[in-house]
Amino acid sequence: MNHKNSQTVGIGLIGLGTVGTGVYRVLQGHAASLEKKIGVRFEIRKIAVKNISKKRAVKVPRVLLTQNPQELLDDPKIHIVIELAGGIHPAKEWIERAFAAGKHVVTANKALLAEHGSEIFKAAQRYERRLGFEASVCGGIPIIKSLREGLVSNEISQLLGIVNGTCNFILTAMSEKSIDFLESLAKAQKLGYAEKNPAFDVRGIDSAHKLAILARLAFRQEISFESIAVEGIESLSITDIEYAKELGYAVKLLAIGKKQKEGIELRVHPALLPLDHPLSNVKGVYNAVFVHGDQADDLLFYGRGAGMFPTASAVLSDVVDIVKKIEAGPVDSALSAMLPAGCILPITDLRSRYYLRFQAADKPGVLGRIAQTLGKHHISILSVHQKESENAKSVPVVILTYEASEKDLRNALRTIDAQKDISEKTVVLRVQR
Ligand SMILES: NC(=O)c1ccc[n+]([C@@H]2O[C@H](COP(=O)([O-])OP(=O)(O)OC[C@H]3O[C@@H](n4cnc5c(N)ncnc54)[C@H](OP(=O)(O)O)[C@@H]3O)[C@@H](O)[C@H]2O)c1
Repeated sequence: MNHKNSQTVGIGLIGLGTVGTGVYRVLQGHAASLEKKIGVRFEIRKIAVKNISKKRAVKVPRVLLTQNPQELLDDPKIHIVIELAGGIHPAKEWIERAFAAGKHVVTANKALLAEHGSEIFKAAQRYERRLGFEASVCGGIPIIKSLREGLVSNEISQLLGIVNGTCNFILTAMSEKSIDFLESLAKAQKLGYAEKNPAFDVRGIDSAHKLAILARLAFRQEISFESIAVEGIESLSITDIEYAKELGYAVKLLAIGKKQKEGIELRVHPALLPLDHPLSNVKGVYNAVFVHGDQADDLLFYGRGAGMFPTASAVLSDVVDIVKKIEAGPVDSALSAMLPAGCILPITDLRSRYYLRFQAADKPGVLGRIAQTLGKHHISILSVHQKESENAKSVPVVILTYEASEKDLRNALRTIDAQKDISEKTVVLRVQR
């Protein structure tokens, strides 16, 4: 990039949807103040879209639009390509070709970075280009920059995140409005907080994508996306959310990365969080990431995890960062010193406290047999709560356990759920402290 001579940085945008429109608007509306702040003028020189005739929320000169992203990649006056189309292919090929053509890249594409991050980061290094991806995790929260730079001297031992606003909105509605999963989802869709097809969000895949990116930076290790254990929120019932609340817990979909002696725990699942935990009060579409570093100690990052302008804010911070760092040389140390893929512990190796809800026959001896089976598998009971039921035959029994092994728990539940006194599959939720 030769912005020193021209004082103008050429931008090529691939995608003019939610985030692309935000970036376009910010660049149009804040061009003068950005120029004042950093002494460089940004000029959008081409925008690639899928359908050039589509009606847009923003007025764009027709001459800027193309249906062929290759035009941007071939344009020597474009220094930074901002990829905001999403999906794996052909986004991966566009980015690789942009590096090969000597351009820097900014992307919000979490799916691509989670599943093909190594190849993309290696390509950036091979061509000595920069890659900005702040917008790929938690929209407006500068968590990537914090992990790459602000916390660079820390050994990070744990990160806990509420990284999907759709799920957090649904869980908040279930808890506060006492409406079930499907009704909460419909509400989220009506307000534009959930996609028509919400599978990626509610099944935990989007959170796992973000966890893969965060864990890579936090633990400085290559992460294989497939090794992340993922459970979503689709089967959560209002009953368990309410029982959890009575016991002093909120239910949240958590993305968890923890360094253990033997390897790294990486998992996404709904979990009970004590009501006084800082993440318990993260409500609605908000996101938050709780990080523990050996020097900085506990940190909490909080903000809007998605949306046109929060995400555009992250994209623009990367663009400015690229321009500012160009003098420092192209090699990105935060990405070059990764350890090879290390051991990601299987979820069966996990030790956790558990919330268990049994649907048990309302007769003497049943509770004793449950307790005996748990004991046989080395699972100690912290508390037992028998609930009233309109169903005369069976009652809900909630048990909180002390820390136990997931493997032992699964074995115990196989035995318990096979008993004729247990009428439904036992509900298991992990308790995060
Ligand atoms: N939305 C958010 O709040 C958010 C937050 C964080 C990260 N992200 C990430 O940001 C990226 C963009 O998300 P978005 O919500 O802005 O998506 P979107 O609204 O669906 O927009 C996608 C854009 O890409 C264009 N496009 C798709 N395929 C293309 C192709 N083959 N060639 C040229 N253009 C193509 C579309 O063109 P047409 O307009 O002609 O259809 C559209 O303008 C995704 O990776 C997403 O995961 C989004």
